[in-house]
Amino acid sequence: MSTLKAVRGTRDLLPPETELWNRVERTAREVFSRYNFGEIRTPIFEDTSLFARGVGEETDIVSKEMYTWEDRARAQSEKAQSLTLRPENTAGVVRAYIEHKLGEAGLLQKLYYIGPQFRRERPQKGRYRQFWQIGAEVIGPTSAGSESPLRDAEVLEMLASFLDELGISGWRLEINSVGSALDRPRYVAALREALAPVKHLMCEDNQRRAETNPLRVLDSKDPNDQELINNLPKIADYLDEDSKAHFAAVLAALDACGVPYHVNPRLVRGLDYYTRTTFEFTHGGLGAQNALLGGGRYDGLSENIGGPKAPGIGFAMGEDRLILTLQAQAEQQATLADYYIAPLAAELNPAALELARELRRKGLRIEVGDGSFRLKKSFEVANKLAKKIILLGEDEASTGVLTVKDFATAEQTKVARAELA
Ligand code: HAM
Repeated sequence: MSTLKAVRGTRDLLPPETELWNRVERTAREVFSRYNFGEIRTPIFEDTSLFARGVGEETDIVSKEMYTWEDRARAQSEKAQSLTLRPENTAGVVRAYIEHKLGEAGLLQKLYYIGPQFRRERPQKGRYRQFWQIGAEVIGPTSAGSESPLRDAEVLEMLASFLDELGISGWRLEINSVGSALDRPRYVAALREALAPVKHLMCEDNQRRAETNPLRVLDSKDPNDQELINNLPKIADYLDEDSKAHFAAVLAALDACGVPYHVNPRLVRGLDYYTRTTFEFTHGGLGAQNALLGGGRYDGLSENIGGPKAPGIGFAMGEDRLILTLQAQAEQQATLADYYIAPLAAELNPAALELARELRRKGLRIEVGDGSFRLKKSFEVANKLAKKIILLGEDEASTGVLTVKDFATAEQTKVARAELA
């Protein structure tokens, strides 16, 4: 008899790795509760029409990636119901919001979830058919402030804090606005027009996307098509005044709380419910599937699935990808030196070597730079080789108080030489 294995695209999570999963989930619960979020758990399967109407019939997710089946009717009089394993959780949360009339109290609902999602995608590193998401949604009547750009900025600031607290360094926030439900069709029409004369020059995938879903052309990574894509109209030029002002206010709030971001005019995301703000946090260490998380605003979703007006914004993190990133970082950390000593002038080279000798004798792993390096180069090299850099200038050499920067936390402190070990 052949042995049975976990189905392609699914896997078992075993100890000790599950400890790491628990730490990630614990940190999420702690951080989210500081922002006053409460947990919601929705069913793992829902009526298929929820996703068709919520996520969008034309999206890749709904058109080809869902696990859907006809549930057997229990009685002859009953009709079989089409059910689907949830490919994402936002539609389910909004369905629950409507079903339990959560908007009636007139307050914002701040809900988070942790759980498996299912998509029939081609499995590869960071992409599975059963994967875990940690997500959150802020939704409510307009009178509760659910449309305010402050909500967007608060969610983004929470994500930045969560990733920092978890110890994920090197994330990058990409942000865009896709405008209102009225802006989008105008933009798609402009895209179609601009694509018509050039699409035959593009790869096969993009030729198909240009027909079926022109927005997806913007996502294309095909190197030969990049120049053509960069010359396509930008959605920013199709936003109405309200959407422009909303986006400017989100960015201003991010500036105010010091969350770094990159505006990416090509970020349109693969789900139909998005309006205005869309975003992704990416990480270079993940390879092709580099999105740690994605999200955005969905001001018309509730109405699309038969509910009251209830603007909202949320995100979902790929927990599998958070874990991959943490594991890669831990592996890298294990091969790093404790300190990189950067002498700030050639005359300080001997002092640097002397300090290195002292620290190595205490059992520390030390790299020494060279006084001829420019500061920028010292930082670049140190960042690759060591956990922390010690800057050794005239003052430091004479006073014995050293400037130390920790690359993981980006914190710079003054430390007495004797306390370095
Ligand atoms: P999404 O971009 O489809 O958005 O998925 C969010 C995240 O889930 C991705 O950035 C990725 O980290 C992870 N993910 C997606 N597919 C897979 C897969 N096959 N294997 C592993 N990880 C995966 C949504 O799902 C929206 N519901 C997010 C949202 C919430 N928007 C507003 N509120």
